[in-house]
Amino acid sequence: MFQLLHATRRRQRGDLPIIGWTEPHEYLYYRKTLRQSQSILILLVLIWLAAGLFSNNWLAILVVIITGVPLLIKQFQFFKALRHTFRFDFELDAKLLYFILDNNLNDDTVFSYIKEKNELIIRVLKNNDLSEIAKIENLDKGLVALVGLPLIQKDIRQQYVDFSFMLNTPKRLTINSTTQPEFTNDMKIDLGYGFNYDPITDPHILVAGSSGSGKSIFISTIILEFMKRRSDIYICDPKNSDLGMLSHYLGDHVAVTSPQIAKVTRLVVEEMEQRYEYMSENFKYGSNFVDHKFKSVWLVFDEMGAFSATGTDKQSKEVLQQVMANIKQIILKGRQAGVFVLIAAQQMNANMLGGTELRDNLGLRLALGSNSSEGYRMVFGSHVPETLPNTSQKGSGLIYLESSGKEQAQYYESPYVDMKTFNFIDELIKYQIAQKDDLGVLK
Ligand SMILES: Nc1ncnc2c1ncn2[C@@H]1O[C@H](COP(=O)(O)OP(=O)(O)OP(=O)(O)O)[C@@H](O)[C@H]1O
Ligand SMILES: [Mg+2]
Repeated sequence: MFQLLHATRRRQRGDLPIIGWTEPHEYLYYRKTLRQSQSILILLVLIWLAAGLFSNNWLAILVVIITGVPLLIKQFQFFKALRHTFRFDFELDAKLLYFILDNNLNDDTVFSYIKEKNELIIRVLKNNDLSEIAKIENLDKGLVALVGLPLIQKDIRQQYVDFSFMLNTPKRLTINSTTQPEFTNDMKIDLGYGFNYDPITDPHILVAGSSGSGKSIFISTIILEFMKRRSDIYICDPKNSDLGMLSHYLGDHVAVTSPQIAKVTRLVVEEMEQRYEYMSENFKYGSNFVDHKFKSVWLVFDEMGAFSATGTDKQSKEVLQQVMANIKQIILKGRQAGVFVLIAAQQMNANMLGGTELRDNLGLRLALGSNSSEGYRMVFGSHVPETLPNTSQKGSGLIYLESSGKEQAQYYESPYVDMKTFNFIDELIKYQIAQKDDLGVLK
């Protein structure tokens, strides 16, 4: 009984539970322990009452009744509360202990776990037995069934394996039309589903996914977020599809032909270089574009795969090389100047960005819809999770944020847009008018 109370107190102090058959596991018998302790207490109180009642001394009778009777009643509540606490505190411990038996793991296997904000992390310590290590590294399915929660990530380390589970299902954002533009100075963009995107920490975005996976819808919602931040937006749409028609509203900031695309990317690079010049003339240590009161610039390049396939003759090859050189410069140098790219493509391929090195400089990467493992590898490199999620939900996929510290890309649902009621162009115009008239109210 005291051991159980001690263990509960240690947990309240923040000590991690250590679970294994070779570790103390008296919590398995907490019901029996509590029953025994309760019986002993009741017996002692009854003896106390009897001793008083048979003493023939009215004072002693009064004292035992005043103390004994409330004690007899109170102990029921006390043990009920303890039973509840122990059951809650040690439920997972007991499950994990039996999990060791059920999965034929060695007797000396040790588990631990910690509950964080939205995650339950179960850690399994490795021993020196190689076949046991292989088993431990593949406990995913068994543990998912045990805890009944979605696995977010598995982190295999030399000494242990961490399995992280999602405790609360994150909420998907729903995009509604606004009555009034909502400008903000906060650079961070809420992408929903528990993800926040800050271009300063994770510059540049890559959106990949097959046809109909939701790339254009995601890009539209993020363009509105850029507009809320008064960003300067340039658009390249070599297939002249969804985004190309924005030329009616954004004028020569929208490029669809190769020469236009070359021009727009050059303009963005020039803007970046001018900013660097200005920033070095007005040097402030450790400063970035925000300190110099620059707005962010976003170059949104849809269907890049289609464009990179255009370099067939000598002339178009030259244009392609020029455009790719411009994009490379922005990716490598843009962050401090506040100049960013968003690249979308149906299929990422190694040649598109001239190798994986450049891809690794894109801080936020998304693969929407279902992709082949090769497709995922092209987007996430070594960050592809072992278990691929079901992406049947429209606009869902995998997301990887460089600064998140997570080893693997996570399941994600992009903001939900009700196509019947939401009109992207109407929203865009609202922001454009407000920006021109500067009617926007800064938060
Ligand atoms: N976030 C979302 N909310 C609601 N519906 C969505 C969402 N994402 C995708 N859809 C549905 O899927 C359709 C296709 O999406 P979208 O046009 O964005 O695909 P895409 O990846 O751009 O395809 P393509 O490569 O052919 O251009 C949309 O018209 C819409 O009906
Ligand atoms: Mg599209």
